[in-house]
Amino acid sequence: MSSQPEAIEPLAVEYPGGSYSVLVGSGLLERLGPLVRALGTAIADRFLLVTDENVEPLYADPVLRSLQSAGYRASVFVLPAGEGSKQLSQLSDVYQACVQRGLDRRSAILALGGGVVGDVAGFAAATFLRGLPFVQIPTTLLAMVDSSIGGKVGVDLPQGKNLVGAFKQPLAVFVDTACLSSLPARQLRAGAAEIAKAALLSGDACLVDVERLAHSVETHGWISTETSPLLLRAVRAALLCKRDIVVADPFEQGPRALLNLGHTFAHAIEVWSRYEIPHGEAVALGILCALRLSHARGLCEPALVTRIHALLNRLRLPVKLARAGLCAHEILACMQTDKKRKGTALRFILLRQPGAAFIEDSVGEAEVLAVLRELDPKPSSDRS
Ligand SMILES: NC(=O)c1ccc[n+]([C@@H]2O[C@H](COP(=O)([O-])OP(=O)(O)OC[C@H]3O[C@@H](n4cnc5c(N)ncnc54)[C@H](O)[C@@H]3O)[C@@H](O)[C@H]2O)c1
Ligand SMILES: [Zn+2]
Repeated sequence: MSSQPEAIEPLAVEYPGGSYSVLVGSGLLERLGPLVRALGTAIADRFLLVTDENVEPLYADPVLRSLQSAGYRASVFVLPAGEGSKQLSQLSDVYQACVQRGLDRRSAILALGGGVVGDVAGFAAATFLRGLPFVQIPTTLLAMVDSSIGGKVGVDLPQGKNLVGAFKQPLAVFVDTACLSSLPARQLRAGAAEIAKAALLSGDACLVDVERLAHSVETHGWISTETSPLLLRAVRAALLCKRDIVVADPFEQGPRALLNLGHTFAHAIEVWSRYEIPHGEAVALGILCALRLSHARGLCEPALVTRIHALLNRLRLPVKLARAGLCAHEILACMQTDKKRKGTALRFILLRQPGAAFIEDSVGEAEVLAVLRELDPKPSSDRS
């Protein structure tokens, strides 16, 4: 993507007691100091920039330079890359760094990285000194369109993902799409699965845009002058979708569950695969399952299933599991364990058409098994 500054269009996210802006553009990192200054006096003094070992060499310097030129004191704390950092021991290291670098209530924590960094740094910001201002700079496509807004932060426990957490609203989110130029294709595809989900929740016009994006990616690749404007548009549309849903339900009491389209299947597939299937790929499979379930119940047209199957194929996201012999029962069992642990109903998001999703709590096991079986790469007649 071009690193030339583009016009910045802020997106306001309101929550009970406040609001924050999401700025989307290319080249924001270099302008971070003045952008933070423009937020007002909430951050008076010092920053701890939390990042990971992959992102630090790529993007920490311009951020530090820009903050320092704007008169802030800023230092960096680097986490190991990956989900393994979303644990209490790493969080404890972040707290230690906060103490050692002398953070006080006029200081702020800045998350520069993917969803892992955002979740850990955000939880540290929610809890250190009972809460410090927090700024998000998401650098993965998934973090840009999903995890950086909505205020959910937290860490994992050995017993499961995201079991310790808080709601911590950021002061601002700066989405610098230039960071996508270094992101591996697999991570871009993972973000694209969430973009496809957001488009399905938003409506046909957004879905058509994502189809155009997928076509451009197929022809010109992710990082090209042809694809960049389509990607920027898709990022904004997905952010708008998430913004509208989280504003309507800031503490996840009801309609925010719509953002889990495909995710009941996806989480079970991730657990079943022992996390060999990454989240974005599991979401792609989960979206297909949710659509097939909707179709089986006579809710949506079969053409929508075919259309999304083609879209995911174009984005090189999986539409089947890699190996034959899928045990649909095992995946269902993973779903049921999760349900038991959370004490919630087995909940699915079904779709009548793009833009018309709803929450369904009464889906039978046989229906779930039937759609899971369709993920098996072996034709059903071959199965014993
Ligand atoms: N809080 C929420 O609302 C929310 C929502 C969705 C997901 N999540 C969480 O987000 C996490 C997943 O986030 P993720 O997919 O961003 O994973 P991640 O943070 O692990 O990043 C993926 C990989 O990309 C690297 N990376 C990041 N930016 C890069 C860049 N610009 N160039 C090159 N490499 C880069 C990272 O170092 C890492 O290796 C999960 O823990 C999930 O639970 C949270
Ligand atoms: Zn997701």
